[in-house]
Amino acid sequence: MANGMADLFRRLTTGVHVIGVAHGNLRNAFTASSVSMVSYRPLLVALSINPEHASYAILKSGRVFSINVLRADQQASAEHFGTQSGRAVDKLSSVQWRAGRTGAPLLPDALAYFDCQTVTDIEAGDHRLVVGQVVDGAVLDPDGQPLLYAATGNLDGSADLYPTDFRGLEQVRCRP
Ligand SMILES: Cc1cc2nc3c(=O)[nH]c(=O)nc-3n(C[C@H](O)[C@H](O)[C@H](O)COP(=O)(O)O)c2cc1C
Repeated sequence: MANGMADLFRRLTTGVHVIGVAHGNLRNAFTASSVSMVSYRPLLVALSINPEHASYAILKSGRVFSINVLRADQQASAEHFGTQSGRAVDKLSSVQWRAGRTGAPLLPDALAYFDCQTVTDIEAGDHRLVVGQVVDGAVLDPDGQPLLYAATGNLDGSADLYPTDFRGLEQVRCRP
């Protein structure tokens, strides 16, 4: 791989997820690897989203999202939701989905899902860090294996986004 920094960051092991968002009748979904468990009581999870994504405007106003955990054989779904914008195509029109408790779209053929209400949405560099309280969820395929982010290669095009080294990086101000 040309960019060693991308190679390094792909060692942060994570799965691949389809994040569903909803506000009224508006719905969209996008692929995200940057998803993490945060707190047990209350049950909180976090995701990182580029605010330029079509999904962010819907997430910001609707304040709900779903996390659909993809199975190892769902690389095509990662590509479908992760390489085209909801501004250009209705990504949900060609797949099976249902509205969860919050209204966010759930994919019935995923490994598992989480249905969440946004509790925090803060700036984090060139992304937004969105924390959600999990209000519903289920394992849909108990024997299924998850799709690992490293297995998707450069599907997200991130190799061109990383700096090439650690020198000369801007100083980040700490928030209290
Ligand atoms: C494997 C993979 C992982 C991705 N992870 C993230 C992520 O964690 N956060 C993010 O903001 N975008 C991520 N993306 C990019 C978005 O899914 C992609 O830009 C999508 O087209 C945005 O859709 P939207 O404009 O309809 O919201 C990822 C894409 C792929 C293929």
